[in-house]
Amino acid sequence: MRKPNLFDISVELQQIRTHAGNTHIFKMYAPDVAATAQPGQFVQIRCHELLPLRRPFSLLSADPGSGEIEILFKQVGEGTKHLANCEVGDYLQLLGPIGNGFHLDSNRPRAVLLGGGVGMPPILFLAKKLQQQGITTTLFLGSEIPFPFAVETSKHTLPGISRNVDRVCPQAQEAGIPSRLASLNNMAGCYSGYVTDLANDWLNQLTDEDKNQLCVYACGPTPMLNASATLADTHQLPSQLCVEEFMACGVGGCAGCVIETVTNNEIKMQRVCVDGPVFDGATILVNR
Ligand SMILES: Cc1cc2nc3c(=O)[nH]c(=O)nc-3n(C[C@H](O)[C@H](O)[C@H](O)COP(=O)(O)OP(=O)(O)OC[C@H]3O[C@@H](n4cnc5c(N)ncnc54)[C@H](O)[C@@H]3O)c2cc1C
Ligand code: FES
Repeated sequence: MRKPNLFDISVELQQIRTHAGNTHIFKMYAPDVAATAQPGQFVQIRCHELLPLRRPFSLLSADPGSGEIEILFKQVGEGTKHLANCEVGDYLQLLGPIGNGFHLDSNRPRAVLLGGGVGMPPILFLAKKLQQQGITTTLFLGSEIPFPFAVETSKHTLPGISRNVDRVCPQAQEAGIPSRLASLNNMAGCYSGYVTDLANDWLNQLTDEDKNQLCVYACGPTPMLNASATLADTHQLPSQLCVEEFMACGVGGCAGCVIETVTNNEIKMQRVCVDGPVFDGATILVNR
């Protein structure tokens, strides 16, 4: 019999970390999900008994050893308000892991990662995974609210990036991954502008030989994903984009999350939940 790879389970909330800007990190014990989950995959969580539609959240981490998974979410509406009121020891009904995550492009042993807003979790998960696989990774994150971690000052300069732009993600610094942060809200030590413009400054100093080894991986709001696709085009790089679309069933049954993609000039309707959420950037329709 084939082993199931999608689980509808009740999971215990083990730890809650709350950050400025109404963002929360939940750690849950879900060994079946943790055993196979990949960066870019997500879980659907029932936020309240009166809200029948589950809400989708990307995995921030999944540790097969401890059986723990984490999500990072921002409180925006009814469902996430209920979720934010949960306490350690509560049980949540969770379905996952869902969708196609990022895949490693074996021809491209270098990675540049871009995460914006609530698109940061799958990118942070991916950064860790790539690092474990020996892929040379550079990380750029953008946020208009305080970052959901204690920002640190870099110990190293990064080519192409101004010395004044020296704030980094602590998890990345600890793992030896060069990173920089961007914000439109004048945060000290952060690049003042879009995360894609920050990444462009770094890409501009690479040689063609460097670029031939590089792949772009991004997750964030739609305008940021469009800018990431354009950035990849400009530098003639392949890209994988993790799309966040409104969802209902979350498992491929309702077509509520369909987007248009294009392959060989052929337009195709694809469901973000099960055909994505990660798509080849070259197939996503943006104003190129
Ligand atoms: C694959 C996927 C992964 C996601 N990962 C994360 C994550 O890691 N962290 C996180 O904080 N959020 C994530 N989201 C968005 C999250 O699902 C929504 O914020 C959540 O469903 C809102 O529910 P709500 O009941 O609180 O808000 P609602 O009352 O339903 O809506 C409030 C606001 O949230 C926005 N919203 C609602 N549903 C979505 C949606 N599906 N996608 C984007 N915006 C939405 C609307 O613009 C609206 O203004 C993800 C969405 C998708 C599709
Ligand atoms: S949300 Fe129902 S098909 Fe994707």
